[in-house]
Amino acid sequence: MANRTERDLGPDPHREGRKRFMIAGEHVILRALEREDLERCYRWMNDPNIVRTLKSRYPIAFQNELEWLEGAMHPGPAERHFAIERKDDRSHVGNASIHDIDWVSRTGWFGLFIGEPSAWNRGFGGDAIGTLVRFAFDEMNLRKLRINVFEYNERAQHVLLAHGFVEEGKLVRDFYREGQYHDIVILSKFREAPAEMPQS
Ligand SMILES: CC(C)(COP(=O)(O)OP(=O)(O)OC[C@H]1O[C@@H](n2cnc3c(N)ncnc32)[C@H](O)[C@@H]1OP(=O)(O)O)[C@@H](O)C(=O)NCCC(=O)NCCS
Repeated sequence: MANRTERDLGPDPHREGRKRFMIAGEHVILRALEREDLERCYRWMNDPNIVRTLKSRYPIAFQNELEWLEGAMHPGPAERHFAIERKDDRSHVGNASIHDIDWVSRTGWFGLFIGEPSAWNRGFGGDAIGTLVRFAFDEMNLRKLRINVFEYNERAQHVLLAHGFVEEGKLVRDFYREGQYHDIVILSKFREAPAEMPQS
């Protein structure tokens, strides 16, 4: 079947003999977060280069990150969290989450980051977005995914528009950072694009 979410049961490169469920894209896979991911997550969430375009504002204590990870490994019904792994060397390069899922309206918000700036602009983020969206639509049966992007995050907007997201609205002067207010752009992707939305 063309363009469907590829699922795989592949060997775990870090645990000999263990196999795990992966959601495969072209350059990345999405997998469950594990305890071993903690140090990386902690480092990323304290890296000003990463959090500059995320809502996270304060330094994160190791204990807080541990609690976040425990929560991500035991998600409530309205959220799902994934580690993003490179397909080529199987390194963990970022995280993605779908959250605030409304199972009646079948909508959700999502967020993601590639935690190593050296891995930016190499197609991992775009592939992670495409893979996450396919999984959300084809397996979770959601019909609309949206994301908040700061207006100064031109890279993220570029990638999202290239993956069929459309600007649904803007929250004007909504977020204060680095001494000024910034607009937040709401970018959405519909499983079946409504006629009144601009086509991507
Ligand atoms: C946004 C993010 C996920 C994108 O991931 P990525 O792996 O760098 O994305 P890709 O390599 O798939 O694509 C990058 C694209 O942006 C383009 N780009 C890079 N810098 C850009 C800029 N300043 N303005 C516009 N486009 C830019 C690249 O040319 C490339 O486009 P192309 O594929 O048409 O050539 C990643 O940069 C990231 O994690 N940033 C920090 C956290 C973040 O902002 N998360 C999103 C929150 S909304």
